Amino acid sequence: MEGRVPPRHLFGIDSLTPEEILAILDAAEGLRSGTTTLARLDGRVCGLLFFQPSTRTRVGFEVAMKRLGGATVLVTEVKSGPDMGWAETVEDTVRVVADYCDVIVMRHADSEAVCRAMAGSRVPVINAGSGHEHHPTQALLDLFFIRRRLGRLDGLRVGVAGDLVASRAARSLVMALRHWPPAELRLMAPRGREMPQALLEGFDRHSITVSDRLQPGGLDVLYMAGLPHASDTARYPTEVRDGLTLTPGRAAELSAGSVVLCPLPRVDEIDLGVDASPHAGYFEQSADGLFVRMAVLARTLT
Ligand code: CP
Repeated sequence: MEGRVPPRHLFGIDSLTPEEILAILDAAEGLRSGTTTLARLDGRVCGLLFFQPSTRTRVGFEVAMKRLGGATVLVTEVKSGPDMGWAETVEDTVRVVADYCDVIVMRHADSEAVCRAMAGSRVPVINAGSGHEHHPTQALLDLFFIRRRLGRLDGLRVGVAGDLVASRAARSLVMALRHWPPAELRLMAPRGREMPQALLEGFDRHSITVSDRLQPGGLDVLYMAGLPHASDTARYPTEVRDGLTLTPGRAAELSAGSVVLCPLPRVDEIDLGVDASPHAGYFEQSADGLFVRMAVLARTLT
């Protein structure tokens, strides 16, 4: 419609400039430390459209909205499936929800569906994880935690381990790190499941190392993206899975002060024995998600 300001959607971490990312991290840090507050969202409603399972992201957004004074409504049923009798397009679902809500947070197995939702929505849509490609708020909370624990984002030795084709969290983090080039980007993935080359454009080729086994030595940050489907021994034979599991013995190779991150849920990529290690940051990282999602909602709605 002529003259209408387009909604402030958030599709991928690459939709944000480095300045915008830092502004979100700063707002989140102000909340965490109690030094600043955010504009209240009293009376505003967030539609949570989760068409794939989620615990952290869904609960994180729900609590973030409520902490800011707003309300939420959760939709999980899919009406576009052939077995529903009255099939509905994602555009129609979003159009209806947008008439009741001020912002939509959407998770979907298909990134194209989130694109279509954004194209058809008159309210902002925040991508809460789509396909194998995008998980922008996960990347923001990963950056937030890295900066908080290590004091900076650039020049770090960062390892990313797991199925780097299927992990939207790993892919989103690597996408974001293009703004803060690592001294080393160590990519550890099973053969055939390596990070797509297109995502490595923009990095200094000499900073990238690859391995099909976990090699934690010398890293500042170890990001355990994991291998899905623990029972799928055809895709991930036991020796491949074992080679990419962080055990207490392998965690002992980490440098002092280095941190282990994981988007969670954990399958078996981190042995429970690592949880007591001073390197284990993943539950603290997950908790930081609340501040980041509050900052994202406030930015979107004010
Ligand atoms: N990290 C993450 O996206 O977790 P959930 O699938 O539980 O939201």
